[in-house]
Amino acid sequence: MAEEIKRLMAAHGIEVFVHHVNDAEPKGLPTADLFIFGSPTHFGKAPGNVVRFLKKLDLPPGTKYAVFATCSAARPDRKTGRMPTEDELEKLRRTIPMMDEQLSAKGMKKLAEMKVFVQPEQMKGPLEEGWQEIVKTFVARVLERT
Ligand SMILES: Cc1cc2nc3c(=O)[nH]c(=O)nc-3n(C[C@H](O)[C@H](O)[C@H](O)COP(=O)(O)O)c2cc1C
Repeated sequence: MAEEIKRLMAAHGIEVFVHHVNDAEPKGLPTADLFIFGSPTHFGKAPGNVVRFLKKLDLPPGTKYAVFATCSAARPDRKTGRMPTEDELEKLRRTIPMMDEQLSAKGMKKLAEMKVFVQPEQMKGPLEEGWQEIVKTFVARVLERT
């Protein structure tokens, strides 16, 4: 997804660098017009390495950001066949609120967010069909607000 964001932004003449949080130094990031943070959802949350990275992040208040998360698509309960409610799904997908909590505490300014889903039976992907369209809409929104 990050590479797709990069590809779409490059088409608008915007230079994008993609880094994994494990290979980046949260206190030594160069300045940029915008930072985009992405995370998978593990057990309802952003994984520890993502949260630790965001906690240590040292960017000036007012810095613009956008966030995206991957989650499992909703599926009916195996026993009851009932689909989870919106409230139940929110609890299984706390990733974006957790990222926002760290970033807004630093006074950073959110421009956009997106969730993309993997097929419910697969914990690892592939992403559900149509994900490129979701990324396209996200990039358009980010560009409009930057
Ligand atoms: C161990 C594990 C736990 C997961 N827990 C959740 C979850 O609680 N809610 C959800 O929506 N997706 C969950 N997923 C699906 C992942 O969010 C999705 O497959 C993931 O974003 C793929 O990225 P990854 O390969 O980097 O984990 C989980 C996946 C794994 C492997």
